[in-house]
Amino acid sequence: AEQSRIDINGASFVVDNWTNVTPKILSYVGMQKHLQTNHPLSIIRQRIVNYFYKTYKTSRGNPLFSVYDKLNPVVTVQQNFDNLLIPLDHVSRNKSDCYYINKSYLLRAHTTAHQVDLISSGLDNFLVVGEVYRRDEIDSTHYPVFHQLDAVRLVTKDKLFERNPDLEIFENEWREIQGNKQKQQLIHSSSKCLDQSKQPCHTLEAVKLMEHELKQVLLGLAQDLFGSNIQYRWVDTYFPFTQPSWELEIFYKDNWLEVLGCGIMRHEILQQSGAHNSIGYAFGLGLERLAMVLFDIPDIRLFWSNDSGFLSQFSEKDLYKLPKYKPVSMYPQCKNDLSFWLPAGVDVDAGFVPNDFYDLVRTEAGDVVEQISLVDKFKHPKKGLTSVCFRIVYRHMERTLTQTEVNEIHKRIADACVKNFNVVIR
Ligand code: PHE
Repeated sequence: AEQSRIDINGASFVVDNWTNVTPKILSYVGMQKHLQTNHPLSIIRQRIVNYFYKTYKTSRGNPLFSVYDKLNPVVTVQQNFDNLLIPLDHVSRNKSDCYYINKSYLLRAHTTAHQVDLISSGLDNFLVVGEVYRRDEIDSTHYPVFHQLDAVRLVTKDKLFERNPDLEIFENEWREIQGNKQKQQLIHSSSKCLDQSKQPCHTLEAVKLMEHELKQVLLGLAQDLFGSNIQYRWVDTYFPFTQPSWELEIFYKDNWLEVLGCGIMRHEILQQSGAHNSIGYAFGLGLERLAMVLFDIPDIRLFWSNDSGFLSQFSEKDLYKLPKYKPVSMYPQCKNDLSFWLPAGVDVDAGFVPNDFYDLVRTEAGDVVEQISLVDKFKHPKKGLTSVCFRIVYRHMERTLTQTEVNEIHKRIADACVKNFNVVIR
């Protein structure tokens, strides 16, 4: 029998009884909202990346961290779970929680899925940003596709103990350990290891030094985003890939808000990635959660909106001045363009003042106009006349406007322009 297949990003996958990804979900692959100019998720991404660029510099003054923000969200079960020591019976592997392409592939459920590959390729300090896919409830804070930022920082003995060369990262008896045997045991045991002290292989001095740096840098990030006066707390937690592990919570608008998860990386992960001489920290955070709080965005669906009433409220011109979102009407927009020739010798801001045009539109159309933008302007090469095109976005605050109604208003504006500005409608 012919096997059915799914094509994603130019690769073809066999469908099997694990497949649960839908065409609707696959339509989000490649949208890259975290890279879209002026998008709130892109603004938060840039704030975090800039914070790391300025916090960590090489001896030559260059950023220490490299950024990976275009990695393919199609990953293997090994990348998303096995490599990170996530037990075989861990709930996060369930079909009810993930979008599986088939038994071996899924849409990544966290950006941590790329950790082992990037370390194996030789990287010591990196950030990964991208969308992740999880099956979940539907409400104002949950959406099946959202964005995460992950980070890894690795250091070796000479860096960590620069000023104390007598100290060691590893306990003597752990200096060269039994490798894969460990990993197999871990993945087959479902018992959570909530021992917050340290991994047996590490010295207390090494862990405490890493913990100190990790907490200082991440608190600095939270203060960069939320202000230096925040109230915060570190909460012990469990991740299969870090030990000890913490969550950073900040007190914001009467609630304790979970900002990120982090910890000292499990040494088995570094061993299998060829970084057996290093100790590392890792953390991960969700961009939507931060953006919703920082911009006052009330509904997670808005991040997928192409509505200019939403998108036009955010600008990356000044990353350090985050505006509060003002809700716009939920009734549909209606866009109409208006093009005209200006009179001879007149140009934009030379005889034709756009603000005059905006006032005329307000007079003729009132509050149903949500937005106006100059979308085109050119000079006729022979006649020397200037042509302008304005896009007018109409939206009623309380009801859906009909196209006929909009056409009528649009016509009124055009007539008033001819009368007041002496223009010729195109
Ligand atoms: N991957 C974790 C999550 O999705 C976050 C995390 C990343 C925690 C790295 C610790 C270290 O919740």
